[in-house]
Amino acid sequence: MHITFKITKYKVMDRPYVAIVSGATIDGKISLGRNVSAKECMPLPEDVQKYLHSIRAKFDAIMVGCNTIRTDNPHLTVRLCEGKNPIRVIPCTKLDLPLTSNIFKKDAHTIIATTEEAPKEKVEEIKSLGVDVLYVGKEKVEIGRLLGLLWKRGIKSLLVEGGSRLNWELIKLKVVDEIVLFIHPLIFGGERAPSLVEGEGFSNYSEAAKFQLTNFFAIDGFLISHWKSP
Ligand SMILES: NC(=O)c1ccc[n+]([C@@H]2O[C@H](COP(=O)([O-])OP(=O)(O)OC[C@H]3O[C@@H](n4cnc5c(N)ncnc54)[C@H](OP(=O)(O)O)[C@@H]3O)[C@@H](O)[C@H]2O)c1
Repeated sequence: MHITFKITKYKVMDRPYVAIVSGATIDGKISLGRNVSAKECMPLPEDVQKYLHSIRAKFDAIMVGCNTIRTDNPHLTVRLCEGKNPIRVIPCTKLDLPLTSNIFKKDAHTIIATTEEAPKEKVEEIKSLGVDVLYVGKEKVEIGRLLGLLWKRGIKSLLVEGGSRLNWELIKLKVVDEIVLFIHPLIFGGERAPSLVEGEGFSNYSEAAKFQLTNFFAIDGFLISHWKSP
């Protein structure tokens, strides 16, 4: 693999540079169903995975929604190329996560962002694993506030690896600087299959989040495209 990923545009801001990276089918789906693991229903060829890991290695931190942790149990580490593991950041309202999840392993540092609704015993159990627990909201993790806290901790770049509900929160806040899409040669169809961005959505063209195509190429029959916010 000779294609290298670079963060080219740091704006002056009080939050990290945010990039979403995701696989998607030709029809824009990111899994067969919300509780079906994308790792199983849409596996990536090894060279695409290597490219993904080379992107991970460029970021200070990596964020994934709590439901993707429950469904896919990812490691979120850099294993297929040289580079350091980003800090894992997981927003999770009530800490409804198994303590055996791979994100609690010692191979990388993990920060869990939670709310006042999280059971105190679970907070203590998670902290005892060496994980930082931040309270960032009463009933809902406030993603905008979380980005500010990460920035203050020295996190200058954040890679978001889904799923569709977390992607929406970031798109809604208009804080996504870049999107990297791996288009699988597949169509799932159906209303149960989540798409790249869900949530309530925008209601008209002027509100819609807009991006510019900055690069595209193929790896092993997958179309890789890069999009940046203007
Ligand atoms: N193809 C791909 O590249 C790819 C990548 C990632 C995921 N996926 C797939 O996507 C599916 C999961 O996506 P999903 O949309 O169901 O879940 P998600 O975005 O991974 O997680 C959403 C969950 O995160 C927690 N959360 C806490 N604060 C939040 C906030 N402010 N905004 C949004 N979420 C917040 C909530 O769970 P609590 O209520 O428990 O806090 C929420 O339900 C799975 O099928 C997975 O395999 C595919």
